[in-house]
Amino acid sequence: MMDWEELQETCMRCTQCGLCETRHNVVFGVGNKNTRIMFVGEGPGEQEDLQGEPFVGRAGQLLDDMLSIIDLSRKTNCYIANIVKCRPPQNRDPMETEQDACIGYLMNQIALIKPKIIVCLGRIAAMRLIREDYRITREHGQWVEKDGVWMTAIYHPSALLRDVSKRPETFEDLLSIREKLGQLGDC
Ligand code: URA
Repeated sequence: MMDWEELQETCMRCTQCGLCETRHNVVFGVGNKNTRIMFVGEGPGEQEDLQGEPFVGRAGQLLDDMLSIIDLSRKTNCYIANIVKCRPPQNRDPMETEQDACIGYLMNQIALIKPKIIVCLGRIAAMRLIREDYRITREHGQWVEKDGVWMTAIYHPSALLRDVSKRPETFEDLLSIREKLGQLGDC
């Protein structure tokens, strides 16, 4: 396992998959590393690639609004990362091979942060971190404990931009996340 400095340096010069050829920036992650809760998206979009920070486009604005509902923010008390750290061209889903090449970095981030809760943003992250055959429509908001970490998934903010009818369910899921954080206390 690498420490933060070595991990970040290694990511910055990573050439383990083809995404390194088209990236402008590696999008490492953002937030408080001393947190109990992590949010994991699928991979950087255009704005994230240009700015080097996760969730800074339109979906990112919505994510920040969602976090603020449950008293979380990237500036103070949570950490945000992605399954892959470089932008898949044309915003396609990251391929399995690209995920395989990158997932070790996320696992190292998780090992360093030791969160109590991981929230997957969307099906790609849920299929990678919770279960290969995860069904986001059916299972969002449900909790599973894996290796001592409470895990759930909510709809990806981009899906909530496309389909506002999913927002009330997501509001309920957010409240459930706040409740879980409360239950886990300061441990
Ligand atoms: N979508 C993601 O999954 N991650 C980002 O960082 C931005 C958009």
